Amino acid sequence: MSETGSRIAGFHSLSPEERLDAVTRRSGLGNEGKSHLIEAGSALVDLADHLSENVISTMNVPLGIATNLIVDGEEVLVPMATEESSVIAAVCNAAKQCRDTGGITATWTGPQMIAQVQILDMPDPEAAKQALLDRRDDIKASCDACDPMLLKLGGGFRDIEVRVLDTRIGPMVILHLIVDTRDAMGANAVNTMAEKLAPHVETWTGGKVKLRILSNLADRRVVTVQGVWRTETIGGEEVRDGMIAASAFADADPYRAATHNKGIMNGVSAVVLATGNDTRAIEAGAHAFASRSGRYTALSTWNKTPEGDLHGVMEIPMAVGIVGGATKVHPTAQASLKIMGVTTAERLAKVAAAVGLVQNFAAVKALATTGIQAGHMRLHAQNLAIAVGATGDEIEAVAGAIVARKEIREDAAREALEQIRSGAGG
Ligand code: MEV
Repeated sequence: MSETGSRIAGFHSLSPEERLDAVTRRSGLGNEGKSHLIEAGSALVDLADHLSENVISTMNVPLGIATNLIVDGEEVLVPMATEESSVIAAVCNAAKQCRDTGGITATWTGPQMIAQVQILDMPDPEAAKQALLDRRDDIKASCDACDPMLLKLGGGFRDIEVRVLDTRIGPMVILHLIVDTRDAMGANAVNTMAEKLAPHVETWTGGKVKLRILSNLADRRVVTVQGVWRTETIGGEEVRDGMIAASAFADADPYRAATHNKGIMNGVSAVVLATGNDTRAIEAGAHAFASRSGRYTALSTWNKTPEGDLHGVMEIPMAVGIVGGATKVHPTAQASLKIMGVTTAERLAKVAAAVGLVQNFAAVKALATTGIQAGHMRLHAQNLAIAVGATGDEIEAVAGAIVARKEIREDAAREALEQIRSGAGG
């Protein structure tokens, strides 16, 4: 067998160690790279091998704790998994600044997910739509029979929606199954229901069912979070008004809204990842929801309260669970839930959304005042120091030296490290 190329016969049936050997032989990974991957994956590689495919190691992301947050009157320590510097520090800072007003309050719509069933080739789409509406009770029975446990927990089928969609290949009927998935994210539950229902749908409509899959636009599983920051706490009226102007900018301009929302997701996705939930599902839902008016806009809005303080509010779909998938089997996800003291999907959704709003406060405040580069460049300088081989105390020393010289570049970091090591200082 050739030791080059991307075709590795039987790769999937090898153990992670054997796969790593095979990849090492066929790539420029080298022994150092291989040793790193063995070490990085050591604790969790077997679990990872079950969670995913063709696993050789694990990609470790920093897990930090956001302090100072209060959600619905309860103090909460929030684990956040993110590789981006400043994100966790920003939450700690912003959460501290709204403690005197009680922190963040949250409400939610409940945990309803939508599964979509696509029906093609009907003789009469409007008649097919009516046939499905007439079969609501049969649809309910079929869905509820899929998951007796969900029913026992108070979840299950809630309703249907049926639309005739005009598309570029002609009309199609789209059936929505609306299901309360309780503490589960619910993808498996609703996808199973949609697949099981499909043959009946074909009989009732005379059409052909194609796609049967949940929608990530979870607009029936929405959290609303809000908080007030006192004007005197955040640095005065100019800061407040600058933040309101930044919010108006994001409302009006999709180019800015995308970045504004990205900042929100810096917080949200870090909590979602720390708890083993599906970051892509949450991101897709958030951005689709931000476009629900037909124009992409900001997820959060900042305004002045009647007392002259700063009020932030955000609505965001939050399809997170605590009982299935990686959340259930990944020990880090379980530890994260314990640190948060979270025992329901509702609380997790509210905390994750609260972190998003608080994160957004921090980003918008920085942007409306000093800008973000000063803080970022310091951390970038530390990364450069590590990249040129600084360790321990050398990291701070090298970073401090290149920041002081305003030369935040790799060559300057290398030079500073040499000087420090030769005793010449930075
Ligand atoms: C960077 O990761 C996030 C920000 O760009 C968010 C924003 O601009 O609001 C700072």
